[in-house]
Amino acid sequence: MAFPTETVYGLGGDAANGEAVARIYQAKGRPSFNPLIAHVADRAAASELIELPDVAHHLADIHWPGPLTLVGKSKGRVSEMVTAGLPTLAVRIPANPTARILLAKVGRPVAAPSANPSGRISPTTAGHVIAGLDGRIAAVLDDGPCSVGVESTIIGATEDGLTLLRPGGLAVEEIEKAVGEVLIRRNDGSINAPGQLASHYAPNASVRLDADRTVGDELLLGFGKVDATLNLSPNGDLVEAAANLFAYLHQIDALANGRGICVSPIPEHGLGIAINDRLRRAAAPRK
Ligand code: TXA
Ligand code: MG
Repeated sequence: MAFPTETVYGLGGDAANGEAVARIYQAKGRPSFNPLIAHVADRAAASELIELPDVAHHLADIHWPGPLTLVGKSKGRVSEMVTAGLPTLAVRIPANPTARILLAKVGRPVAAPSANPSGRISPTTAGHVIAGLDGRIAAVLDDGPCSVGVESTIIGATEDGLTLLRPGGLAVEEIEKAVGEVLIRRNDGSINAPGQLASHYAPNASVRLDADRTVGDELLLGFGKVDATLNLSPNGDLVEAAANLFAYLHQIDALANGRGICVSPIPEHGLGIAINDRLRRAAAPRK
């Protein structure tokens, strides 16, 4: 369901449930699996999810709850559908009181991208959400217009320092005031989307796509009614396949032990487009 935050309305799902997260992508019609932000009610819940250096804790002391997202080393408590297979996780404690009540009652991290169809303008009212996603989501919790209205500022936090990954609702100047150190800015000013890097998806084994049958001693990552080592969805359900994708790639790679992996054809529609995007990266020639 969609819910208000002070930045934009988010489309939320249980961050530990890969199928729930896959349904977020399906509802948004998002063509690729970008990593998502996990929303929690308080600092204790945030500490369960990521490791942060002291400087980031200090920043959080001042600006959480608020329009600030911190990306730290993941403790592996959420679905790989949320991290898109990355070792890091983005976490935010929103300031909107309704969001915080909701998150406290849910008692689990909630993955939420902005509640708009992919490629469209972010929603700052419940009406925007309905206009874009009516019929595709269960509900929207209406708390009037968002007070911030632009997405959160995203800061990467490692022992090497803090990096601005996305400018947003918390001014960079405020962050520099809080931590007294200059952020490392990306030269091109673009959003750092490590989920797009091929190497993050590449298994150790070689990967061959659109395989109708195995060749030699290959292992088959199946889809639909095939005899496979692991099957993303025996019933050919793309939502189920998306939810299983990262976990099964890890598993079959561990089983391969020098053998190659081949993958059944996946239909190029719905979540299949995102699945194929990630599979093509996994199969791409390695550096
Ligand atoms: O204000 C917001 O942040 C809103 C509300 C709903 O909280 N959410 C939002 O989510 O803007 P979304 O999915 O539209 O944007 C998430 C951004 C993406 O640009 C993604 O690349 C980045 O967060 N991101 C997520 N995890 C990351 C990670 N581990 N490393 C770097 N960037 C990450
Ligand atoms: Mg968005």
